[in-house]
Amino acid sequence: MNSIQTQDCPIHFNSVGYDHLNAHLADANYSKIVVIVDENTHEHCLPLFLSKVQTTVEIDIIEIEAGEISKTIDVCTGVWEALSDLGLDRKSLVLNLGGGVVTDLGGFVACTFKRGIDYINIPTSLLAMVDASVGGKTGVDLGPLKNQIGVIAVGKMVIIDTEFLATLPQNHVRSGLAEMLKHGLIQDRDYWNTLTNTTELNFEDFDQLIYDSVIIKNNIVESDPNEDGIRKFLNFGHTLGHAIESYFLDSDAKAELLHGEAIAIGMILESYISAKLLGLATDDLEAIKTSILNIFGQVEILEEDYEEIIELLKYDKKNSHGNINFVLLEAIGQPKFDCLVENDLIIESFKYYSA
Ligand code: GLY
Repeated sequence: MNSIQTQDCPIHFNSVGYDHLNAHLADANYSKIVVIVDENTHEHCLPLFLSKVQTTVEIDIIEIEAGEISKTIDVCTGVWEALSDLGLDRKSLVLNLGGGVVTDLGGFVACTFKRGIDYINIPTSLLAMVDASVGGKTGVDLGPLKNQIGVIAVGKMVIIDTEFLATLPQNHVRSGLAEMLKHGLIQDRDYWNTLTNTTELNFEDFDQLIYDSVIIKNNIVESDPNEDGIRKFLNFGHTLGHAIESYFLDSDAKAELLHGEAIAIGMILESYISAKLLGLATDDLEAIKTSILNIFGQVEILEEDYEEIIELLKYDKKNSHGNINFVLLEAIGQPKFDCLVENDLIIESFKYYSA
């Protein structure tokens, strides 16, 4: 697969990625290199990764605990202290080898350490390959509130090696699939049809589907890197999805949802709202609900949960001037941002989801 050339941060795939990484390491004259991993990528991905890296520069490893629980400023402090103790200077490099938590947190740590050092993302989860690692969004959560602290700053490159997907549990593959489905819904009906008509997603098919997804995301990000306009499209399903994710994360009575599992629910809810407000065709709404439920199953959301989930919407990052701004669909492939939605309609959408 050809590399995707971007203004600042090229995206390379599979074995060619390591050629570019090794050439960059030979050129850049780094003083030290740190690889940030979690315990899963330490065990399952780091040996393969290190076997492909060629450099004479010393490489240290920093491990964080796997999962959303690590996406905190306290964990950042621990990593900043470790970088300092290891003697990293402004000519050092951070390599983020992991899923979205590692790439978001590692990118943020690198962008803020000594006012910013180089970093490179090597995503190992499907979600990080098609979304988190591309476009320079870095940061951490604030308590249960998702991604409230962070900066947009791209790394030197992204290396997507789909061999890492073989190490992923099935529910994490599904979680990444939610972002790919979103890319189809906001930009490309044919891509949406291909994804939803593919019954057996094997890893060979996946390479091309992942590539197409990254192209969709990258084209949007290149046009609007700071999310002043069309990058907001990438938040389809995320306004309610993030609120649901935060609510489940903070509730003792609920099992934690993976990011993509929450976004899948958010996409059904926001498609319902799209049908009511923007005329998304009923057939398409039904197809979206059926396809997503076929892949993800239905999660129990009780009427008593609605109010608290809606309350969390006030923390959404797209809000402005007290308005909660949704991304909705006029049709599959035709999104619209900054749409205002009444709470009654949100409650109706929950009922539609659960019906
Ligand atoms: N994950 C959405 C974005 O990068 O804009």
